[in-house]
Amino acid sequence: MEKVTTTSLLVKKQSCKRITMLTCYDYPTAKLLNEAGIDILLVGDSLAMVVLGYETTLPVTMEEMLHHVKAVKRGNKHSLLVADMPYLSYQIKPAEAVRNAGRFLKEGGAEAVKIEGGREMIKTIKAMIDADIPVMGHIGLTPQAVHKMGGYKVQGREKMQAERLKEDALLLQEAGVFCLVLESVPWQLAKDITESLSSPVISCGAGKYCDGQVLVTSDMLGIFTDFTPKFVKKYADVGEIMLQAFRQYKKEVESGKFPDKKHSY
Ligand code: KIV
Repeated sequence: MEKVTTTSLLVKKQSCKRITMLTCYDYPTAKLLNEAGIDILLVGDSLAMVVLGYETTLPVTMEEMLHHVKAVKRGNKHSLLVADMPYLSYQIKPAEAVRNAGRFLKEGGAEAVKIEGGREMIKTIKAMIDADIPVMGHIGLTPQAVHKMGGYKVQGREKMQAERLKEDALLLQEAGVFCLVLESVPWQLAKDITESLSSPVISCGAGKYCDGQVLVTSDMLGIFTDFTPKFVKKYADVGEIMLQAFRQYKKEVESGKFPDKKHSY
């Protein structure tokens, strides 16, 4: 399997091949995602909610993110490894953003970082790229802005908001992002943006006309069930399989069925 890079993704877009991306937070899952040939592994700040149990993505820290990026790095061979920058690690000053993003590459072994936000992030994106850090953009529904948006709402339904999102997408491309995530926007707008950009556009609830798709792995496996956005397709009910296994184990330990001779020395 060939190594996926920021430049091979561009070639994929140019040859109309779809890009696959899933979130990943640990070593064994990274190995499975590699075996499945997934192009991009994102250590998303969704870690905060689906692994660490926080109510939003806001509380997760650089140290918590780094801990998981390192684990994913150890299981990754072929996919592009992208680290999501947590809230307040990049919003304060470009220099601070570069230092934090650099830690993901230098200490964590990531190959790129992702940040949320539109035109207000351009200075920061340019500073990161000047420091040789590839940046993935993320616009539309940006979960770190949940309080500003008044909830997890579809973005770009109104004409002015849609125009602003398209402008942001073009400005981010001009600033140098190698790829752009569009989250929870109407598919018509996502199609228009995808066709207007030469950089790959990845849909997260933005319909089928983007260059690729991303889902939160814990959602598509049915492990995280506190809430499930409309755009998530459940590919397996791993949560249910785990629950059955835990119940069976409890039953067998309590009844003395486990361990038997086969599982003893
Ligand atoms: O944190 C995350 O998992 C994400 C993806 C949903 C794009 O940002």
